[in-house]
Amino acid sequence: MSEGTSKKRILTGDRPTGRLHLGHYVGSLRNRVRLQDEYECFFIIADLHTLTTRNAKEDIEEIADNAREMVLDYLACGIDPDRTRIYLQSAIPEVSELNLIFEMLVSVPRLQRIPSLKEMARNAHLNEMPFGLLGYPVLQSADILMPRAHLVPVGKDNEAHVEITREIARRFNHLYGDVFPVPDVLIGEVPTLVGTDGASKMSKSLNNTILLSDDAKTVEKKVRGMYTDPKRVRADIPGTVEGNPVFIYHDIFNSNKAEVEDLAQRYRNGSVGDVEVKEKLAIALNAFLDPIRERRETYASDSGYVDQVLYEGTLHIRNEARETIMAVRKAMGLSGIWNKISRKAEKRRKKQTE
Ligand code: TRP
Repeated sequence: MSEGTSKKRILTGDRPTGRLHLGHYVGSLRNRVRLQDEYECFFIIADLHTLTTRNAKEDIEEIADNAREMVLDYLACGIDPDRTRIYLQSAIPEVSELNLIFEMLVSVPRLQRIPSLKEMARNAHLNEMPFGLLGYPVLQSADILMPRAHLVPVGKDNEAHVEITREIARRFNHLYGDVFPVPDVLIGEVPTLVGTDGASKMSKSLNNTILLSDDAKTVEKKVRGMYTDPKRVRADIPGTVEGNPVFIYHDIFNSNKAEVEDLAQRYRNGSVGDVEVKEKLAIALNAFLDPIRERRETYASDSGYVDQVLYEGTLHIRNEARETIMAVRKAMGLSGIWNKISRKAEKRRKKQTE
């Protein structure tokens, strides 16, 4: 292992599909920010993973800009670019090599049992499962184990993928000797945040998000349109707080707990209108988002800054990647094959030229 800090490591990341939203924040971003001191952190921009469902030329053209937006969101939330290495998956070929080796350590039926993959295929309107999408968690395992990470902070939907990673790490170590730590998963306090539609989890493809980069007016508008207790056609009808997305957001994002308590009580006994509850939520959300937006603005105005963060991070991880692949090849005896062949060949070649 490379010298430097002896801290344990975090590896996590996202597919560069665009700007991040509140669901990303509570699902894992908040944990990532919190753990920066305690762990050495690596964030992968998993652009190869986006190919599993979107591999058209036009989709690929969008990746660079999407990656930039995402890095901006990371930094805006308080990820410190001097400590956290943020890097581009497709610029590290060793990830693909590790992926191939890991493909031999997991069975097809095991992967077919993972519900998130079927859901991704459905959402992408694919009627047959692509081989690469089935291998999504294997590629993710290569991401995680490449820097030999110990902890993976992710959203609930990624839990099964980290379980695959743990199985692959154990299997590899059992077959070839101890190379990888068996990483733990860390799910956010709010494992799945409901979307503004109240129907399903917040997700870009469902148009029910509040982005970390939305301006104050947009947040107000989105909150005004939020799903709430549908039985409440008038303000004096007692309403339901439990499971109501407006109150779920209040609980998470409104730091004025007394206000939330008061609103909830008045909502239950029918003495507050939805308009007021939503207005107060918009104010709370904007107060929460203001410093994030400000930091985002500062970083965005520094032309090329984000690119440099990604560039330096990628160059750094390249050394890590080489070290890990060398350790893997050595443990498996793969490097020995070429060594044997080339030693004999070189001997003969030398004789020929004598
Ligand atoms: N699967 C993650 C997502 O849902 C992205 C990802 C790719 C990832 N590689 C990773 C997350 C490694 C954590 C660790 O977008």
